[in-house]
Amino acid sequence: MKSLFDEITNRPEGHGLPPACYTSEEFFGLETEKLFLNEWHCIGRVDEIPETGDFFTIDLMAEPLLVVRKSEEEVAVLSNVCRHRGMPVAQGAGNTKRFRCPYHAWTYELDGRLRNAPLVPKDQLDKDCKLPELKSYCWQGFIFTSLDTDAIWLEENVDSTLMPLDQHVENYHMHAMHHAVNFVELWDCNWKSLVENFMDGYHLSVVHPETLHHLTPTGLCKKVDGTVGFTAYTANYASTAPARENHHPSLSEEQVRQSQLFCVFPSLIASVSADTLVYFALHPVGVGQVSVKWGLATYESNLSEAEITARVDKWKQINAEDHQILQRLQSGLRSKHSVSGPLAADNYEGTLQDFHHYLMRTLGIDQTAST
Ligand code: FES
Ligand SMILES: [Fe+2]
Repeated sequence: MKSLFDEITNRPEGHGLPPACYTSEEFFGLETEKLFLNEWHCIGRVDEIPETGDFFTIDLMAEPLLVVRKSEEEVAVLSNVCRHRGMPVAQGAGNTKRFRCPYHAWTYELDGRLRNAPLVPKDQLDKDCKLPELKSYCWQGFIFTSLDTDAIWLEENVDSTLMPLDQHVENYHMHAMHHAVNFVELWDCNWKSLVENFMDGYHLSVVHPETLHHLTPTGLCKKVDGTVGFTAYTANYASTAPARENHHPSLSEEQVRQSQLFCVFPSLIASVSADTLVYFALHPVGVGQVSVKWGLATYESNLSEAEITARVDKWKQINAEDHQILQRLQSGLRSKHSVSGPLAADNYEGTLQDFHHYLMRTLGIDQTAST
């Protein structure tokens, strides 16, 4: 791994990461340890669970989690593993008054407290029988959690890391948008390729000639200043692109004709426009495969089925174009002739440099190389 670290540190200024960063099991092991088991990751949206008792389940790095609205005000992220003999307590999504383990019927309250354990002597039951609650934090309607019990609370850093992004996107009022749909899919690529692809305006006109080029052509992309916590760019609309009609009144005329694309490091990528939010929460399952929870939320709460379907279908098509490219990219990256070439100008691929700086810093690679 030392030689890969040297290759990363010694690559020419403005070049991408060495291909082995996307294909090496060892490098992925380092990312798992330093990024995925202890950084903060988005696992969904609060608007997915608007009513008390609403819940959904999700696996984060093979850890089964249960996300529940335990009261009008509060959302909890619980371990979805029964305290009896390890069965996942809940499955899928829904609404419930309490959770009942499907194996021997232990039941749990919405906050994870054990309510009943049939035929188990009461003196055997103690506070350890509560489903453990993970740290969680809600930013702009996104629910973040960390698998590291010692993780520094996200809100302690949020001012320094996400405040500029907050200000950049605040007029879109993402926290008040309404859940429409979400999906969980497996994409056959390295998770970083998906981050980079989403954050690179360079490919828009090439990979999406029919779906995006006429709306947000590459040439109109403009990078936004990032911080240690995020990177972003603005996709400006072509003059011929239709206006978005329903949106929050605080948006400026200019903002109505823009989509803001951002990555909250390391694993949340999203695009917000005047009337639609599309987000992707990335949870890798291997060096060449990533579980993608993607969803769509809308400014309006009462859109017809047909309108929602039209927006979702458009994104399905965009995603299919990206997925196909990224699958092919993964096979190219495995080639012994693969290289990390120079990146395009800041407005088109500068976001990748922000992402790479984050990775180097968090993985401790600069320090390793200099010792
Ligand atoms: S494993 Fe849940 S009740 Fe037995
Ligand atoms: Fe794309």
